[in-house]
Amino acid sequence: MYTQLEQRGMPEPPVNVSTLRRMKTDGEPIACLTAYDASYAALVDAAHTDLVLVGDSLGMVIQGYDTTVPVTVDDIVYHSRIVARGLRRAFLVADMPFMSYTEPGQALDNAVRLMQEGGAMMVKLEGGDDQVGIVQHLARHDIPVCAHLGLKPQSVHKIGGFKVQGREPEQAKEMLASALRLQDAGADIVLVECVPNEAGRAITEALDVPVIGIGAGPDVDGQILVLYDILDITQGRTPRFVKNFQAGCTSPLEAAEAYVRAVKDRSYPAPEHCFS
Ligand code: KIV
Repeated sequence: MYTQLEQRGMPEPPVNVSTLRRMKTDGEPIACLTAYDASYAALVDAAHTDLVLVGDSLGMVIQGYDTTVPVTVDDIVYHSRIVARGLRRAFLVADMPFMSYTEPGQALDNAVRLMQEGGAMMVKLEGGDDQVGIVQHLARHDIPVCAHLGLKPQSVHKIGGFKVQGREPEQAKEMLASALRLQDAGADIVLVECVPNEAGRAITEALDVPVIGIGAGPDVDGQILVLYDILDITQGRTPRFVKNFQAGCTSPLEAAEAYVRAVKDRSYPAPEHCFS
């Protein structure tokens, strides 16, 4: 009993929420990537990625949509299940898709599916104050939650595009207040997307739980990028915070290792990947 999670034939035990908290306390950057299938999951795991997200970005990079809005719970369950088979050490988080967490009961049912059918260890949902009740409900049922703040891609049609958030002091203050409320409600991780460095730093300093950034500057507890972006597979314009790690590497594994190394030694993100 109690041994399965520690015995996957790895010299190191698998990452869990306590590992991530300890990394924040110790100031060890948390390297995170997305993955959508078993082969790439095994590859990013071998590269020593700490956290793997089955993001609803799969709607754009796998399914070819312009946004993440069309992605369904069935899609995430399927991709999470196949990613879980490829992982040995990394912590697996799965996205709650658009409109899958509007009511507490519905959110709980869908989160349970992502964990039971998809093998996820945590679910991620987008939202600020509006999601405090949902996070509370999930946390009360021992569902680990990552709350996604800043640019919320599921709200793209409401925002009017993929835009930097928190540039106005008032907006940055509100974002920080929301992050604190989400933590109090039971969020285990806060993810912040596309905000000025200062906003990323302020949230990271204020919170006890790990803060993962994507386009949130260098002063967060960890970084995440879309795997296909670092491998330079994504077509079209890439956001400012993306770095092509495939350049100069001879394999995708080498590129993923270069990314993990750059996050750990804090050479990524560089000033050209950041917003002010
Ligand atoms: O869907 C996704 O991949 C994400 C990351 C970009 C953070 O939410």
